[in-house]
Amino acid sequence: MIHLSRLRMGRLEGYDWPAYFSRNARRKLLVEFTAETYLTEQEKALIFPSMRMFQAGEASDGKHLLETAERYVKKSGDESYLEAIRWFVAEENRHSDYLKKYMEYYGVRPEKTIWLDRWFRRLRKLGGLKGEIIVLTTAEMIALSYYRALSECTDSQVLRRICRQMLHDELRHLVFQSCTLHKLKSNPVEELLRICLMQMTIWAVWPRLRKVLTVGGFSYWHFYRESMGYLRQSIRIAGQGEIR
Ligand SMILES: [Fe+2]
Ligand SMILES: [Fe+2]
Repeated sequence: MIHLSRLRMGRLEGYDWPAYFSRNARRKLLVEFTAETYLTEQEKALIFPSMRMFQAGEASDGKHLLETAERYVKKSGDESYLEAIRWFVAEENRHSDYLKKYMEYYGVRPEKTIWLDRWFRRLRKLGGLKGEIIVLTTAEMIALSYYRALSECTDSQVLRRICRQMLHDELRHLVFQSCTLHKLKSNPVEELLRICLMQMTIWAVWPRLRKVLTVGGFSYWHFYRESMGYLRQSIRIAGQGEIR
C-alpha cells in the first residue's frame, strides 16, 4: 500500500484543488504505440476482461455528480469545489480514453455497462453528495491495487505508463474526496458504512479481478488488506482534514 504522506501535498486545509487539477491536465499522457511490443494471446486474455470493466467505470459523464455538487455549492457557497469537481470529471474521462485507446489498438471493444457499475451508480444516487463520494472513493481505492497489479502483468511500456498515470491521479483523487468528506463532516455511522461497502465490494470484484491481481502479486488477503488500508487513510483524512 502506498502511504498518502508520500505525496507530500503539504497542508490540506485551503488546498487549491482547481489549480492542482488544471496543472495536472497539462501533463496528460500521450498514448502512442511506436515502441509497443505486441501482447501475446495469453496476455490479452489475462488483462482485457477486467480492463473493459475499468474502462466502462471511468467513462461516466458525471452528470449526476455535477448536479449534486451544484446543489451543494448553492447551499454552501463553496464555488471552488464546483470548479474542482468539473476538472475531476474531465480527468476521469481522460482515464477512460487512455484505456479505450489501448483497447482499440488491440481491437478490443469497450463494454457498454457492467452490473457492478450499474449497481454503483444506483447506490451513489441514494445519499446526496456524501453518498456519491463514498461510493466513488470505494471504486478508486480498488483501482489503486488493480492498476498496480495490471502494470506487472505484461512488458508493455504503454500499459505501464498508463498505469503509472492512473496511480498518480487516483491517489490524489482519494485525498481530494476524503477532504470533501471532511468538509461535509463525516460521522462514525458513515465510517462503518464505508467499511461495510468496501468489504462487500472487495468480495464482489475479486472473481473478475482475480487473474490480474494474482499475476500482479496480490493474494485475496493482500488485496483485502491493501484496500482496507487505503480506506483507513481516507477515514483519517475525512476525520482530521490532514494526512497524518
Ligand atoms: Fe480514474
Ligand atoms: Fe478517480
